[in-house]
Amino acid sequence: MFNKRTKIGELLSSEPDNREVTVMGWVRTFRNNQFIALNDGSTNENLQVVLELGKFDDELLKRLTTSASVRAVGNLIPSLGRGQRSELKATAIEVLGDSDGEKYPLQPKKHSLEFLREQAHLRFRTNTFGSVFRVRHALAYAVHRFFNEKGFVYLHTPVITASDAEGAGETFKVTTLPFDATPRNEDGTVDFREDFFGRATNLTVSGQLEGELAAMAFSEIYTFGPTFRAENSNTARHLAEFWMIEPEMAFYDLEDNVDLAEEFIRYIIRYAIENNVQDLEFLAQRLADEEKQLPQDKRSEFGLMEKLSFVVDNRFERLTYTEAISILRESNYNKKKKFQYLIDQWGVDLQSEHERFLVERHFKRPVVLTDYPKNIKAFYMRQNDDGKTVAAMDILAPGIGEIVGGSQREERMDKLVSRMQEMHIPVKEMWWYLDTRRFGTVPHAGFGLGFERMVQFVTGMSNIRDVIAFPRTPKNAEF
Ligand code: 4AD
Ligand code: MG
Repeated sequence: MFNKRTKIGELLSSEPDNREVTVMGWVRTFRNNQFIALNDGSTNENLQVVLELGKFDDELLKRLTTSASVRAVGNLIPSLGRGQRSELKATAIEVLGDSDGEKYPLQPKKHSLEFLREQAHLRFRTNTFGSVFRVRHALAYAVHRFFNEKGFVYLHTPVITASDAEGAGETFKVTTLPFDATPRNEDGTVDFREDFFGRATNLTVSGQLEGELAAMAFSEIYTFGPTFRAENSNTARHLAEFWMIEPEMAFYDLEDNVDLAEEFIRYIIRYAIENNVQDLEFLAQRLADEEKQLPQDKRSEFGLMEKLSFVVDNRFERLTYTEAISILRESNYNKKKKFQYLIDQWGVDLQSEHERFLVERHFKRPVVLTDYPKNIKAFYMRQNDDGKTVAAMDILAPGIGEIVGGSQREERMDKLVSRMQEMHIPVKEMWWYLDTRRFGTVPHAGFGLGFERMVQFVTGMSNIRDVIAFPRTPKNAEF
């Protein structure tokens, strides 16, 4: 058996009682032919492995370069040096995999996040990305734990579909048709009957519609999977492939929906604070250092840990779109033309500068906006009695903007069909969706949380490309 080892995270939180242990990991640094800083990804803390001078031969010592992989056996003793509680007094060292330290792209110094994005296959081995991805893992686990505790069924919705759930036309096509000899209909359009599925298909933009079908049987379900959007947005908050969590609940109205979303967000943040404090403190320090480079007025008022505790302990501000518009219209930012897009009339979509104004300057806390104009929202949202708005909700987070989008769904067949017709959604093709309204329809609601935006919020990373392992963005699909 090869895997007879103790993880470094576990060792460092145990008593240094001289017991013999085996560790394996990658060399971060090797100093004075004596001290290996060894890391195995279980924590950012390195284990100091001490090699007694003269005890190991020179050929071996030369191979202990940064990023070489090593197996070390020794005794865990209280550290003689400062900076760590315990260290490993090595009795045997074996190099598992050599690494040319000169050629290794990550030298033991600070690299920019931009540079590390180009080395995404290696960046897991840095402290920053070690912490980010352990926190991402914890949040993902907390998502499942939350819904499991509430009795929700985890539904795997298809990645390939024939519908565009959001109706925004931002789908990636899926086809096996040859590009050079596409079969054509008489009118020149592509004949998808010849295609793999016998029809036009695309990667899903959302699992919601399928989620609604299952909610009409299990009452409460959630999805957690990858979704794809071919929107050409080169921003720090958009990915072409991102992970979304979409709960869908029968017998919920809009208020029930917002309550659940708030409880959910608090729960997963609290889980990360309780289980990943070391990583979060590291990231908080990283963020504080990064912000020191910014002019005073661009720095945040609170550190990362304070910001997270604040969200866990305080209710989100709830208001309608209409109320938000009047706050924005009356704001100094609008009057002094500090917004790029000035707010002059009801009905416009909010830009991220407006969302950030509300969250970061006006309310200084997460904000839930409800009851948006129907013309800027999807066809499935429940129409309010005013004839102008729908029972939609967006949650806006400091530093991020929209983190959740959701709504109560239109459960009334006639209203749904007429809205679909108005918005040119193919009613006939969506017979299966409409069947839920035909056979035992109920008030129901749901929302989608953008997982990467959540990870950004919790880790304080300012670019979404730094919280997903291998980001997919316009003109970029490396790795
Ligand atoms: O607001 P959206 O488009 O809502 C839906 O897809 C609904 N079907 C959700 C539902 O009600 N079940 O997307 C939901 C969330 C956004 O609030 C945002 O956090 C995230 O998904 N999101 C993105 N994240 C990263 N990159 C993108 N291109 C994103 N587009 C949306
Ligand atoms: Mg949205």
